[in-house]
Amino acid sequence: MKVLVIGSGGREHAICWKLAQSERVNKIFAIPGNGGIAQLAECTDIKTDAIEGIVDFAQEKEIDITIIGPEATLAAGIVNKFNKKGLRIFGPDIEMAKLEASKVFAKQTMARFKIPTANFAIFDNPDEAKQHINKRGTPMVVKADGLAAGKGSIICQKKKEAIDAVKMIMVDKKFGPSGDRVIIEDCLVGEEASIIVISDGMHFVNLASSQDHKRIYDGDSGPNTGGMGAYSPAPVIDDVMNNHIQDKIVKPLIFQLHEEGTPFKGVLYVGIMITKDGPLVLEFNVRFGDPETQAIFPRLKSDLMDAIEASIDGNIENVKLEWDQRPCVCVVCASGGYPGKYKKGIPIYGLDETAKLEDVVVFHAGTKQTRYEIRDMKYETNGGRVLGVTALGRNIKAAIDKTYQACGKISFEGIYYRRDIGYRALRREGLRIKDYSRKT
Ligand code: AMP
Ligand code: GLY
Repeated sequence: MKVLVIGSGGREHAICWKLAQSERVNKIFAIPGNGGIAQLAECTDIKTDAIEGIVDFAQEKEIDITIIGPEATLAAGIVNKFNKKGLRIFGPDIEMAKLEASKVFAKQTMARFKIPTANFAIFDNPDEAKQHINKRGTPMVVKADGLAAGKGSIICQKKKEAIDAVKMIMVDKKFGPSGDRVIIEDCLVGEEASIIVISDGMHFVNLASSQDHKRIYDGDSGPNTGGMGAYSPAPVIDDVMNNHIQDKIVKPLIFQLHEEGTPFKGVLYVGIMITKDGPLVLEFNVRFGDPETQAIFPRLKSDLMDAIEASIDGNIENVKLEWDQRPCVCVVCASGGYPGKYKKGIPIYGLDETAKLEDVVVFHAGTKQTRYEIRDMKYETNGGRVLGVTALGRNIKAAIDKTYQACGKISFEGIYYRRDIGYRALRREGLRIKDYSRKT
């Protein structure tokens, strides 16, 4: 089978890495891919929003199945276009991609289906939003309706911050038309976790739970990023909690969307806050998480294509996924300055060294192959999040130790990574994160 993967992040490298282990996959193509993906797939430089170009490519190369990484490509309606041409593609159609592309749509869907989430109000007028802020209590969260590269949710401790956030989103249009409407919602307190399922529109199969670390600095401080590290499983989701989430959130959503005639096919990522009142939905995404996927796939023993084909064909009920019981940790190595401005084109050292470590895999995100290889230097930086250094361990402590041991072998000018990935899981076991500060 020939498979095409769209995207260029660590998530897409993890997808390609997993597909490369499938006996059913003979050849992988990627658009546009990155330095690491290029080891596994034939990469072609087409923009991920150039839907017609991707359709033509899939037809020309006789691709059997196309898998989409980024939300924007799904939100642009690629699945509808592929379906019209009779091409097989994995993911939700344009209507269901709105669960991620429009927070207003997601909130209204949750309200209709009585799915637990933070109390909210929707505004399309900044003055009315301001009046509401002045009447309600603090803290609160102001969210742009549309896609904003993970930066559209602002947690506000004071009314003034919320009013400024509304101005930034609705008046200054920092996120363009994504800010035509805002949601103002209660600020939830608790521990976050991610539940990812693959649905065929009627039934679904669970992936292992995971936990991301969204803030740039240790101790979850500083600005939000795309995600600085993840681990799987997330011990905050024990079996009881998992069953509760399935019964109160995932099943009602998948079942009622089917009943309404708009079945959800593809990856559903549920961002959850476990509060003292139980799990509440923070957000839906309609694709694999990044970097959660990097921490989940090394634990997946089954063929990923089983779930992907079953999602397309409508028989996911028969799929059972097998998991390695060992925890997996992924630490993101970023360019200095990320999530703000950063340099590109900096040589990366130490990848050959880490490749020798057992149970370690380094997923590439913002990398590209250098024009000339100098000793073990084959790649250079090409983005904010550069690498996802990932390791399995017999327990969470061993997995964390091994991941940081691998991180210590990698270097590039300005390299930055958090030193406390997995601290919540360690804390549950009465342990604290070691000092993984770099010795330079
Ligand atoms: P989102 O833009 O909805 O993906 O949210 C990004 C991040 O903002 C989440 O992962 C949470 O850390 C935080 N967040 C979003 N909504 C809330 C909320 N209602 N209460 C507390 N934190 C939130
Ligand atoms: N790691 C968060 C996300 O993929 O949206």
